[in-house]
Amino acid sequence: MGARPEPVCETMDDGRPGRERPASVAPPEGFAADANATDALRGEFADWPDCWAAAGDLLDWESAYDDVLDADGERATWFAGGRLNAAANCVDRHVEAGRKNRAAIKWEGKRGETRTYTYQDLHREVNAFAAALRELGVEEDDVVTLYLPMVPELPIAMLACARIGAVHSVVFAGFSKDALATRLEQTGSSLLVTCDGYYRRGTAYDLKSKADNAALAVPQSVQQVVVDRLGNGRALDGDHAYDRLVDEHAGADVEPVPRDAEDALFVIHTSGTTGEPTAVRHATGGYLAHVAWTSETVLDLSHEDTHWCSADVGWITGHSYIVYGPLALGATTVMYEGAPDHPERNRIWEIVERNAVDVFYTAPTAIHSFMKWGAEYPEKHDLSSLRLLGTVGEPIDETAWWWYYEHIGRGECPIVDTWWQTETGGILLSTLPGVDEMRPGAAGPPIPGVEADVVGARGDPVDPGESGMLAVTRPWPGMADSLRENATREGWAYDTGDTATVDDAGYIRLLGRRGDLLNVAGRRLGTAEVESAIVGVEGVAEAAVVGGSGEAGTSLYAYVSPRKNVSATDPLRERVRDAVADAIGRFAAPDVVVFTPDLPKTRSGKLMRRYLERITNGDDIEDTSALRNPEIVGELESIVEDVS
Ligand code: WTA
Repeated sequence: MGARPEPVCETMDDGRPGRERPASVAPPEGFAADANATDALRGEFADWPDCWAAAGDLLDWESAYDDVLDADGERATWFAGGRLNAAANCVDRHVEAGRKNRAAIKWEGKRGETRTYTYQDLHREVNAFAAALRELGVEEDDVVTLYLPMVPELPIAMLACARIGAVHSVVFAGFSKDALATRLEQTGSSLLVTCDGYYRRGTAYDLKSKADNAALAVPQSVQQVVVDRLGNGRALDGDHAYDRLVDEHAGADVEPVPRDAEDALFVIHTSGTTGEPTAVRHATGGYLAHVAWTSETVLDLSHEDTHWCSADVGWITGHSYIVYGPLALGATTVMYEGAPDHPERNRIWEIVERNAVDVFYTAPTAIHSFMKWGAEYPEKHDLSSLRLLGTVGEPIDETAWWWYYEHIGRGECPIVDTWWQTETGGILLSTLPGVDEMRPGAAGPPIPGVEADVVGARGDPVDPGESGMLAVTRPWPGMADSLRENATREGWAYDTGDTATVDDAGYIRLLGRRGDLLNVAGRRLGTAEVESAIVGVEGVAEAAVVGGSGEAGTSLYAYVSPRKNVSATDPLRERVRDAVADAIGRFAAPDVVVFTPDLPKTRSGKLMRRYLERITNGDDIEDTSALRNPEIVGELESIVEDVS
C-alpha cells in the first residue's frame, strides 16, 4: 500500500507541487468501510464471463437471459434471450420501490434557476412524451434525433424513446448545421427534437435555425418538436411545440416495450479515422448492465447518492454517467446548463454545496481551469458532502491530480481516473475506490471482468515501462455493436487506438491517441474531418492539425500552407476557424493557426504529423533524415515559438 499523503501545503495554491509526492496513495480509510466495492471483488471476478452476471443482476428483466455471454457463433452476444426496457429500469422500478419522491434529476440552469424532477415527475414526463412520440408516428426501432442543449427535456426525451423501443441519436448542441445534417442523413432519422436556443455565458444562442437548415439539407423529410427554452414564443411554422405535446398527453400511461438485450438502445456519432463521423450503436442489455455496474462499483453510487458528472449529455460520458448509469441505480443525477465560470468562478462549488453532491466526475481540462482560477473559490464553499472524485476523457497529470485530491477532496476522497471510450460504452480501466491504491497519473488496472494489455506491434505484451498500444483482450458487456463481430475467436483483441505504458503493478498509464484521432480538451476529433474543412477554404493549399499540450490543457493547432500568391493574413486565419466551425462546430475551431510555406513530409510525400506534434509541444527533433524538406522543421520551430 502507498504512503499516506501529507496534509495540504501552502505552496499547492498555484498548482505547482511544493515537494516530492508519493507515487502511490492508499485508499483513504474512512471511505473503504462503506464502499460498494470490496476487496473480494478483485478475486470473485476471476470467473469470466460469468462474473458479469453481477451486472445483469442490477437490472430488472422482463424475461431472464439464457447466458451471460454467448460466444459460440460469429458474434459475441451479451445476455442473449433476455428482454428488458431501459426506461422501466431507470424510472418505473424506483417509483414502484417506494422511492417516487426521491429526486431523479436536479437541474441547474442559469444562475439561481433550478428544477428538480422526482422519480414520480420523471415517470409522468417520460410517459407523456413517449405517448406524443407514438402519436407523431414513431415506431419501435425508428431513430429519433435529439439536438438539445443541457435541459431536462434531453434525458426525458432519451427515456421516452427507450420506453417505446425507439433508438435515440443525440447530437451535441455545439455541432454545426452541417454536422447535424450528416448525422441525420446517416441514420435516416425523420424526427428531430430540438429547441429554439440556449444560454451560455448569459448569452442566448439560436439553435432552431441550425436545425431548420440541417432538416432542409437531408433527403428525407424531417418533422421537428421544439422545446421553448428561451421563452420568447418564437413562431413554430408547422413544427410541434414540446410543451403542447406533453400537455396533450398528460397522464398517459405507455407500457414499456420489452426489448431484446441485443436490440439497440441508441446510436451516437464519434470522430473516426476517416473524414466522416462514425455511428456507434449500443445494445440495450449489455450497455445498461455495464453502466449500472460501473456506476455502482467504480463511482460508488447507490439510490441514496447525489451524483454530478459535469459532462454534456451530448457525449457518451453524459449518456452513461449522467443519464443511464445513475438513473438505473435510482440515484439523483445533477445536470447543469452553461459554463463553469459564468456568472462567476464559484459556480461549480456552489452547485456541489447546494445539492450536497456525493460524487463529482469531471475532466482533467476542467481541473486545469479550476487550478488556474485558484483554490480560493472552492475554499469559500462547504464541499464536505463529497465522498469520491472521478476524472475521464484524457490523462490527468500528477500536479492536477494532487490539486484535485487536496483542494477538492480534502485528502479524504479517493480519485478514480477512469479510462474508456464511446465504443466501450462504459468504464474499462480504473482503480476500485476504497480497494485499490491510487497511482496519480495512471488510470489503473482493468476493472474486474475486463482484460487488457499494452502490446507491441506484433500484439505481444510489452515490458513494464515500455510504451505500446492499449488492447482489450476479452469482450465486455458495454462493447459497441460493431466490436461484437468475431469477438468470439481465440486471440481476438480490440485495438483501442491509444498508446500506453504499464507498470509492474499492472497500472496502465495512457499516453495519448495514436494516428488520426486527437483528444483536445477531452473531446475527440478526427484530424481528417478538421483538415478537410480547412482545405476547403479558398486560398489554402494544405493543412495538418495536431494537439498541443500546455498549462491550460490541450489545444488544437492547425498548420496551414496558403496557395502561391495568397498571403497569410488574419482574415485568412479567421476564415480557417470559421470553416471548421461551420463543418463541425465552434468547439472544434483551432486554438492556434500557424501559417507555413510547407509541411514536413517524407520523400514519398507522406505528411509527418509526428514531427508537427513535437514542434507544437516544444520537443526536440534530432533526426530529420526521413524528411524531403528537413529545413522546414527549424523554420516551424521558430514560428511556433513566436506564436505561443
Ligand atoms: C481518452 C470519452 C486518458 C482516450 C469517455 C480515449 C482517456 C478517448 C481517459 C475516448 C483517461 C478517455 N485517461 N485518456 N482516464 N478517458 N481518454 O470516445 O484517448 O470521447 O481513447 O470517450 O479519450 O474518447 P471518447
